[in-house]
Amino acid sequence: MLTLSAPAKINLHLHITGRADNGYHHLDSLVVFTDVVDHLTFSPADSCANSGERGLCSLEVAGDTTFAQHLKTDCNDQDNLIVRAAHHLAEYLSLHALAPVNIRLEKHIPLGGGLGGGSSDAATTLLGLNRSWNAQLSVETLHQMAAKMGSDIAACLTAPTPILLRDTGNTLLPAPKMPECYLVLVNPMSSSPTPAVYKRFAQNSTPFSSPIVFPDSFATVQDLCSFLKEHTQNDLTAAAESINPDITGVLHALATCREALLTRLSGSGSTCYAIFANKTAAHQAATELQRHYPDWWITPTRF
Ligand code: C5P
Repeated sequence: MLTLSAPAKINLHLHITGRADNGYHHLDSLVVFTDVVDHLTFSPADSCANSGERGLCSLEVAGDTTFAQHLKTDCNDQDNLIVRAAHHLAEYLSLHALAPVNIRLEKHIPLGGGLGGGSSDAATTLLGLNRSWNAQLSVETLHQMAAKMGSDIAACLTAPTPILLRDTGNTLLPAPKMPECYLVLVNPMSSSPTPAVYKRFAQNSTPFSSPIVFPDSFATVQDLCSFLKEHTQNDLTAAAESINPDITGVLHALATCREALLTRLSGSGSTCYAIFANKTAAHQAATELQRHYPDWWITPTRF
């Protein structure tokens, strides 16, 4: 039995720098991973009627019931990124019969929230099955596989190491060295679907931004936040707010917290984050916000 963590990612900035021939957008984004995680447990199945040559015998979902109840456990459901990752790996290995494996997902990351929960689960599935099936594929091979499956999955293979994304999100460059940062994540419990946000961005004919040249390191959280504030933004913010107006309220609530150094949308939303000067400030802000907004998903975390 093997249990691995699949951490939530945050896009500290997200510049849209152009458009690829396939309609996808070119990005420039500094990605970090938080200690909000899903857990995936891989265990050998004794016998399995439905695994065939594809190795995945059963998928069980547990954890935060608000999120887990929306997830299907059908091992042939290609909409499920865990299933897709398992099938991709099985196909690549093309062995006659892979030892059947059960996967249990303990879900804590909000769905469709701009935190890459599904992508992180898929990346962790590739890592877990690579070990469970003793496939010994290199990280480069897993990256190539991940890049074919969705835009954030290759980045999530590097977790928890921060990474700089370029092109459509599949070119990974080293990130600057960063201090430990404490932050609060807030999701209004309403989604802003990624395809709709990118479509709205394209309709708005927003000018493209430039990629950012980062220094090699940031010594303090204040240095990091000053740099991000001065030189970067999330270009999807206006599009996401028009798709989901709840985001405007979340950004306002976070910006008015004491000692919030930087407030921003992550990815295409709807989760927003605020970075704080220290752990105490982040925890106090989370407690106060939860009192005012009991229906929002709010959590202090760090990267
Ligand atoms: O790859 P993923 O499934 O996360 O992307 C969802 C949608 O977001 C894509 O179908 C595309 O419309 C949009 N997208 C984009 N450019 C990217 C990533 C995603 O236009 N780099």
